[in-house]
Amino acid sequence: MFSRIARSPVAAHLANHGAKNLSTTAVNNSKVAVMGASGGIGQPLSLLLKHSPLISELSLYDIVGTPGVAADLSHIETRCKVRGFVGAEQLKDSLRGVELVIIPAGVPRKPGMTRDDLFNTNASIVRDLAQACAEVAPKAIIGIISNPVNSTVPIAAEVLKKAGAFDPKRLFGVTTLDIVRANTFIAELKGLNPSQVNCPVIGGHAGVTIIPLISQCKPAVQFPQDQLKALTERIQDAGTEVVKAKAGAGSATLSMAYAGARFAFSVLRAIKGEQGVIECAYVKSDVTEASYFSTPLVLGPNGVEKNLGLGKLSPYEQELVQASIPELKKSIEKGEKFVNK
Ligand SMILES: NC(=O)c1ccc[n+]([C@@H]2O[C@H](COP(=O)([O-])OP(=O)(O)OC[C@H]3O[C@@H](n4cnc5c(N)ncnc54)[C@H](O)[C@@H]3O)[C@@H](O)[C@H]2O)c1
Repeated sequence: MFSRIARSPVAAHLANHGAKNLSTTAVNNSKVAVMGASGGIGQPLSLLLKHSPLISELSLYDIVGTPGVAADLSHIETRCKVRGFVGAEQLKDSLRGVELVIIPAGVPRKPGMTRDDLFNTNASIVRDLAQACAEVAPKAIIGIISNPVNSTVPIAAEVLKKAGAFDPKRLFGVTTLDIVRANTFIAELKGLNPSQVNCPVIGGHAGVTIIPLISQCKPAVQFPQDQLKALTERIQDAGTEVVKAKAGAGSATLSMAYAGARFAFSVLRAIKGEQGVIECAYVKSDVTEASYFSTPLVLGPNGVEKNLGLGKLSPYEQELVQASIPELKKSIEKGEKFVNK
């Protein structure tokens, strides 16, 4: 799919474009901001982004540590310039001229916590960052990693709406890690190369709202119903698997950095005019009764070009979609109320 040697999408992007021998044409001059860049996700994500030939400038914002992270990354022998911005007074400067903003700012889970338990802290962080985007980079494409994604995306949307800067094509909840996990787990079970597996995961990004569409997996795979249920539940609970294994030290950071980079590279490739770039992401949607929902999206120069919808679902997947709707609606309403209270 990506190259004859089965590389991961991120490795393929870096290999196909050549990280060191870069063209410096205007077309490859994207400026990208990472908000929360000193964190467990922010640092390895920024490291991966520093290698993309499509990015000429990386803007790293956090409330601590970014001068150090930026100085460190700036010594890497790639063309991309790195600048660090620290503290609220430098927030707006970090966003000037930015085409793509990736937001992994906020606290992660500890064992026993749900993503919704993070709401109280992360809601205001995402609100304030979205407000700054609306003021300084109203045309930027925004990808939100901060949990609970099912609520933080509606929060950002409401803030952008109030500022007259909401474009539903340009606001994404980053659910790519769910797809990455589904591909990996399916490959493990079937003895495939994970880089050659592509399983859409739709819905939202928490528990039962995470819906792997194993019936639409490429290559086609089949499982008896008990295995299918166990695999579906493992994909839904995979984040908790990492939270437990880290035993209080946080949640997925390295795999999320990989997934965030995959998402960012796909957005940037589409901005540069590449056709047929598809990613699942959590966006404003009329595909189901939930007003935000993740489905496969064709990406283009302005963000979402076409929503590919649900496709053909198995009866089991139809049940999963139905089961996700009440929780999604609740999380969306909670986010919207937080801004409009
Ligand atoms: N979407 C997903 O699939 C997914 C996967 C894993 C983690 N996450 C979420 O990503 C978020 C970050 O996780 P992490 O492990 O990197 O956490 P972390 O605590 O290691 O890093 C978070 C960073 O955000 C910074 N920060 C806090 N307030 C800020 C503000 N107002 N502005 C800018 N930066 C601020 C912190 O200083 C810190 O450096 C969490 O909410 C976590 O739940 C999402």
